[in-house]
Amino acid sequence: MRADNIPTWLEELRETLERFNKDFTVKNYKKRDIDGRELKPETLMMSYGYDPMLSEGAVKPPIFQTSTFAFETAEEGKAFFELAYGLREKAPSEELGLIYSRLNNPDLEVLEDRLTLWDKAEAAAVFQSGMAAIATTLLTFVRPGDVLLMSEPLYGGSDYLIKNVLPEFGVTPVYFVAGLPISEVEQSVREKIGDRRLGAAIIETPSNPTNALVDIEALSKLVHSFDREDHIPPLIVDNTFLGPIFQHPLKHGADIVVYSATKFLGGHSDLIAGAALGSEETMVRVKALRTFMGTMAGPWTGWLLLRSLETLHMRMTTQMKNAQGVADFLAQHPKVKRVHYLGLLREDDPMNGVYRKQCSAPGSLIAFEVKGGEKGAFRLLNALQIAKLAVSLGGTETLVEHPGSMTHSDIPPEDQLRMGITPGLVRISIGVEHHEDLILDLERGLEKV
Ligand SMILES: Cc1ncc(COP(=O)(O)O)c(C=O)c1O
Repeated sequence: MRADNIPTWLEELRETLERFNKDFTVKNYKKRDIDGRELKPETLMMSYGYDPMLSEGAVKPPIFQTSTFAFETAEEGKAFFELAYGLREKAPSEELGLIYSRLNNPDLEVLEDRLTLWDKAEAAAVFQSGMAAIATTLLTFVRPGDVLLMSEPLYGGSDYLIKNVLPEFGVTPVYFVAGLPISEVEQSVREKIGDRRLGAAIIETPSNPTNALVDIEALSKLVHSFDREDHIPPLIVDNTFLGPIFQHPLKHGADIVVYSATKFLGGHSDLIAGAALGSEETMVRVKALRTFMGTMAGPWTGWLLLRSLETLHMRMTTQMKNAQGVADFLAQHPKVKRVHYLGLLREDDPMNGVYRKQCSAPGSLIAFEVKGGEKGAFRLLNALQIAKLAVSLGGTETLVEHPGSMTHSDIPPEDQLRMGITPGLVRISIGVEHHEDLILDLERGLEKV
């Protein structure tokens, strides 16, 4: 039958069915509950945000390895661009159409939808690296003349960006040491900021590498006491060490959460990626800059991360349990001077209350100081047989490194000491191996110290 011979009633029926089908699909693939009972993220990681019927019934999202997407009509292309470039308001239930993989791509969209579930964020943006997420987020909010507040220590790359690159763009860093109650640092932070505009604040809690904590709720109050009519500085929390399973900073007053997705989210040490999450309003701004800086992740990385998210909860849980065994072993070893592990915080530690308030488990990163300074640390690192001597963390395999001469070597030695990065400090990221084998490896290694 020729199209122009279709009776009007049939055409109307077809349109109604199509509309019904679309509503049904949207309802199903973004369904988060059964009879009003909310489903857990562990369950939703296998389904949320993806409709197999839009991809030939494929149970897993295919890799949409394409740079660009065809529009059905010129009008549709125009409508998509109007939304993407903010030229008009979204109509009710209108979704942004696919345009070009620097703006959006199905693998990234499904991934971003799933990432929001753990942190209960309104929106997420995925990047080509953790540094791309951090740099793009910071540049969204800071302007020449601003102050940027940071906790110390931060990952060496973030520290370098803030202390060496951003000042060239007129942004001045102001820092405070993590691990102290905010009431003890507030006065000096206020004095250092003075009457300059606070552009943003960024912290790591627990920090890399020392596991020092920052009270997110208390800092949020301090940061927002610098709100101005024309600018609200966001509190950005790098949640790479514990999140998104064991800590949810948005719940405690953070405005944006950032991740090196290279670590636990990816979890297999085979990709580089980053993510940022926050309110819809905030993330629209971050995503706009991502579009123009081109710092988004590609479809292949997005697909790998989707696969990793399915096992995130069980990986992080096993790694954490292993780490508890390893930390207990290290804490009683005569060649180990000090162990920085959240699971070993004493009841009377001033940060214990902060830990109980904002973390649900100690995670799987341990920093420990061996006797004999750098020489002692290197002897241990060179002797290990299971733990691999490599930077990075959060993968299925145990990785060990020397922060002072590796991840944090950009930081001058005297500043390192202020942050607790001593010459004998070793950082170990515990994997999913059997913890008894890891302890055996460390036992043999420490004999060489
Ligand atoms: C806490 C933390 N934030 C950010 C980064 C940077 O992430 P990426 O290496 O994915 O750029 C790292 C990397 O080690 C990190 O440990």
